Amino acid sequence: MQKLRIKGRYSLNGELNISGSKNAALPIMAACLLCSEEVEIDNIPALRDINTMIRLITYMGVKISKTSDNTVKINAHRIKEKFAPYDLVKTMRASILVLGPLLARFGEAVVSLPGGCAIGARPVNLHIEGLKAMGAEIDLKNGYIHAKARRLKGCEFSFNPVSVTGTANLMMAACLAEGATILNNCAKEPEIVNLGEFLISMGAKINGLGSDHILIEGVDKLEATACRVIPDRIEAATFLIAALITKSNLKLNGALAEHLREPINLLEEAGASISIAQEFIEVTSLNEIIPVSFTTSPYPGIPTDIQAQLMVLNVLAQGESSIEETIFENRFMHVLELQRMGANIKLQSNIAKIKGVSQLQSAQVMATDLRASAALVLAALVANGETEIDRIYHIDRGYENIDKKLSLIGAQVERIES
Ligand code: EPZ
Repeated sequence: MQKLRIKGRYSLNGELNISGSKNAALPIMAACLLCSEEVEIDNIPALRDINTMIRLITYMGVKISKTSDNTVKINAHRIKEKFAPYDLVKTMRASILVLGPLLARFGEAVVSLPGGCAIGARPVNLHIEGLKAMGAEIDLKNGYIHAKARRLKGCEFSFNPVSVTGTANLMMAACLAEGATILNNCAKEPEIVNLGEFLISMGAKINGLGSDHILIEGVDKLEATACRVIPDRIEAATFLIAALITKSNLKLNGALAEHLREPINLLEEAGASISIAQEFIEVTSLNEIIPVSFTTSPYPGIPTDIQAQLMVLNVLAQGESSIEETIFENRFMHVLELQRMGANIKLQSNIAKIKGVSQLQSAQVMATDLRASAALVLAALVANGETEIDRIYHIDRGYENIDKKLSLIGAQVERIES
């Protein structure tokens, strides 16, 4: 197992390239199962989760070739296994995204139930109810979803609550269903729009991307295409916060400010000066950090995936703040480790009350989930002394070469075997 060793209190400077979005690339790769011709996908990030998805669809019979570090060609012409085994799904919940495409194209799928994870129970009832509404017969047996459908039929389905991968799964399934499907209370995330535009480029008929209602008119077949994955807004927000807490000036090449409106507004309230251009975001922050209270919500609100990172910002702010987590029931795993580094945080159910401190102390800490580990990296960048973060496979799931990127801009970070 590997860990990161980070020497704190170095300011950062320079520019870095934002990678492709994990949460856009994963559904787009699953969507390739809908098409029997070769598809090319560019700007795919080099991440553990991407490798897991490659292993999963390769196991099914998909042919994948890498034409560069971040470009793949995927050909799902011959699928021999409509089966997603537990030992792959348990390491990456997003494997559930193969369910809709397999059912829509082949009329059958056996996919392991993902089970919960550190941040919550993560049910998939909406995925299942939506596919049943489209005429699928679904049985849950021995931890697996057994799904069959001669041909899915268009339906009207409303999500409650909003579900990102639920929206992705049903939108993909509806592309090859008979007739029209209306999805209500959909996810409006940029990753859903990226997926939808990819499906349209394959010949799907989709309207309403980015709105609460998506209308899909089923077609008989989808065809070859090429697409580019959008930049990762969560990675970009993580580095913007790194600049604020280290009082640095950073330029994030490839970051799309339009995907980060609310987070940028919040960071400007916290004292950052942020300039945005077509292809980059530049942040300067030399002032004291002003505390910013917020509540997480579905896009375009403050994403739950930057809640842990924003908590580090508030831990170092001049004053008190509160954070309300409304999406997942257990997404405060980072609090215990931050408290061990000297943070003053009190939890009351899904609300964290924070009193800023002037300094964090280095410590040996352990990553528990992807975004919590990003928060620990941020805390280590400003802590007094040398912090070691164990189990950083969590962070490698969603951040491409984070140690190399941080070292490039002046952080003292090394990856070691633990
Ligand atoms: C996606 O997860 C992201 N993952 C998550 O990012 C992100 O935190 C989350 O959306 C919210 O934005 C990917 O896109 C691969 P949801 P997802 O379905 O789709 C409840 C990261 O760090 N729900 O939008 O699994 C659920 O319990 C990861 O990159 C049901 O009740 O999340 C939660 O309370 C972590 N039934 C809420 O909806 C369902 O069938 C939102 O979950 C599905 C979801």
